[in-house]
Amino acid sequence: MPSVEGLPARRAALQMLDAVLRRGQTLEAGGESAARKLSPPDQALATAIAGETLRRLPDLDDLIDSATRQRLPDDSKPRMVLRLALAQKIGLGTPDHALVATALPLVDGGPRRLVHGVLGTLLRRGMPPSDAPRLPPEVEDRWRSAWGDEIVQAARRQIATRPKLDLSFAADADAASYGGISLAPRHVRLASASVIDLPGFGEGGWWVQDLAASLPARLISDDADDVLDLCAAPGGKTMQLAAAGHQVTSVDSSESRLARLRENLERTHLKAELVHADALGWQPKQQFDAILLDAPCSATGTFRRHPEVLYRARRQIIAEGAELQGKLLDRAARWLKTGGALVYSVCSLEAQEGEDVLSAFLKRHHEFTIDIPEPGELPAFVTPHQRGWVRILPGLIEEEGGLDGFFLARLVRTA
Ligand SMILES: C[S@@+](CC[C@H](N)C(=O)[O-])C[C@H]1O[C@@H](n2cnc3c(N)ncnc32)[C@H](O)[C@@H]1O
Repeated sequence: MPSVEGLPARRAALQMLDAVLRRGQTLEAGGESAARKLSPPDQALATAIAGETLRRLPDLDDLIDSATRQRLPDDSKPRMVLRLALAQKIGLGTPDHALVATALPLVDGGPRRLVHGVLGTLLRRGMPPSDAPRLPPEVEDRWRSAWGDEIVQAARRQIATRPKLDLSFAADADAASYGGISLAPRHVRLASASVIDLPGFGEGGWWVQDLAASLPARLISDDADDVLDLCAAPGGKTMQLAAAGHQVTSVDSSESRLARLRENLERTHLKAELVHADALGWQPKQQFDAILLDAPCSATGTFRRHPEVLYRARRQIIAEGAELQGKLLDRAARWLKTGGALVYSVCSLEAQEGEDVLSAFLKRHHEFTIDIPEPGELPAFVTPHQRGWVRILPGLIEEEGGLDGFFLARLVRTA
């Protein structure tokens, strides 16, 4: 059979979609096995196609259902192939002939005519505008009841928008010389660029870090000498803390992620003591002046770059994340000196992680109170909740490109 240009990338995209939707994997993990043998441009294309598909899945399914007499099962191959083809049309502007030529071989020996027919019908009809695609219904229901409909509408707009590239700097930076804007000290936001082509990559003066992810470390006071970064890898916050002059101990249970942290420290010429340990069993030798716990969570706040989180973060994953966060907070509480600060953060948009975990912790630990951020500690567009924590929701600074969803709170040990 003659080879079809672009087919290997589509085949890999199909496997990636399957890995996420049927096996609950991340896009990255799915891509590692599916796209390993592809050229870098084909790998990038496969990831882009699978990502666009996950950004728009409910809308794509409605289109498909509008053109079939019998509803195709959710995980059937024809539906998967049609989703990929339509996502390329809507999200990547792929020409119709290329869509059809690369979709049909994916269903060879199967319902080729069906796929051809549905695709032909939909392409002739034309695609509806899609700058605010719907999120999975259970996510929309959860976020609507936690944050309101405006936030759901903002999240729909954000998932279709390419996120900006945020850089964190070890020292003050001149945003104009990078062609970007600065929204906080030691921060530069760029429209987008290839990271290794940017000035200063080799010298290690900066690292990539969403602006929201840089907020928790900004709440650690300069006065704290010994700082524990608990759940530290791959190390964005360790680098911030080390660059600010703290003595940092970084603990993480993942060896491979700690290896990335070590590489990051080498590239940026920053120092921290690295500990490979499960924080639920580890015991430090001394107490700390401050602790940052950037806890494992459902990661739904990162949906702009990782749309698959919306499909992986089922109720049970969120509940398990919340339970682990409570346990990690209980451990960290014992390791803090009286008067010291404990910053708890999660890149989640679930109230069950964040607000609920914090409220339960404060009921168990009367020796802790919330310490509300002072004006100037965080960028002016961040307004703490009246109870003292910070919740970053979709829609915040949307005109400048928005932020990942996040929760953070600073607690002080009073006794
Ligand atoms: C949200 S990520 C941390 C991101 C990191 N703070 C940064 O800024 O780059 C959560 C981390 O927690 C680690 N982790 C999960 N369970 C852990 C445990 N029981 N003990 C220590 N680390 C754990 C994971 O390996 C993961 O690297």
